[in-house]
Amino acid sequence: MNAMPSQVRIVEVGARDGLQNEKTIIPTATKIELIDRLSATGLRTIEATSFVSPKWVPQLADASEVFRRITKKPGVSYPVLVPNLQGYERAREVGATQIAIFTAASEAFNRKNINASIDESIERFVPVLERARADRVKVRGYVSTVLGCPYQGEVPVGDVVRVAKRLHELGCYEISLGDTIGIGTPGNARAMLRAVAGEVPIAALAVHFHDTRGQALANILTCLEEGVTVVDSSVSGAGGCPYAKGATGNVASEDVVYMLEGMGIATGIDLPALIETGLWLSAQLGRATSSRVARASV
Ligand code: HMG
Ligand code: MG
Repeated sequence: MNAMPSQVRIVEVGARDGLQNEKTIIPTATKIELIDRLSATGLRTIEATSFVSPKWVPQLADASEVFRRITKKPGVSYPVLVPNLQGYERAREVGATQIAIFTAASEAFNRKNINASIDESIERFVPVLERARADRVKVRGYVSTVLGCPYQGEVPVGDVVRVAKRLHELGCYEISLGDTIGIGTPGNARAMLRAVAGEVPIAALAVHFHDTRGQALANILTCLEEGVTVVDSSVSGAGGCPYAKGATGNVASEDVVYMLEGMGIATGIDLPALIETGLWLSAQLGRATSSRVARASV
């Protein structure tokens, strides 16, 4: 076991992972206000939106307008999701300088989510990565279904390692390992992370837990013990993938920050401001926050 890190970087995914899964379309102005509020909390990385096909994810069809109109705070990165060259071009047109590409360790999920096999999706990313390199755009890579798939069930660890390694070799500076349906527990989370860290430097790995079964904080703690220092989370616990049956919200950012700061691990985030933003968002969405920390604060 490694010593716990002294600091952790939170990648806030609520504006993308959260809002992509809402049943109703959130007004563009609300999305912009959410990101602007998040920018004031001390977060350094805020995933802003997604340039996927609006036919597949109508919830984020206003990606260009959102990205154009948010206030970009100096020192804060605003990466966006991109599935193909068309998405890359749309993102660049409005000035995105950081993108995230995404594939999965499960063939069945990838087919449902992006209509491609794993290898086809990686082939599709090659020209995106070439363009990004030439444009000096930083690229993050996501691997979904690392601890289980809603369609194929078990996902062999070897498949996670293969896909993560390939994305890293292709030039992704960071690989986020996604438990898309929140099915893992600390035992298999640790085993999966160790296997991936055998091929990709741990400093280039991030973890992305959905909290469907209440395991996310325990899983995160285990991954911190293994040396991870980048954690994805979503304000008020919003989140889910419309193409992953049974995927509910991401672990709430408020709960992750509370745990980390309580353990003496610095995040640079103003927790009361984050809680306030999460409560504001849940009021906009018309439902209670799933953050236990936020609920305890009111
Ligand atoms: P396809 O239908 O196979 O692609 O979709 P296509 O090339 O045939 O395009 C279909 C139509 O979409 C065409 O329009 C294209 O122009 C258009 P038409 O000719 O019919 O009028 N199109 C686009 N429009 C705008 N921007 C684009 C774009 N691309 C095509 N970029 C595709 C393939 C990948 C496009 C589609 O499957 C897609 O967009 N999927 C996205 C699904 C998604 O966003 N899922 C959620 C994100 S992943 C996630 O949440 C997991 C994560 O959080 C980690 C974790 O939790 O594990 C990251
Ligand atoms: Mg996700």
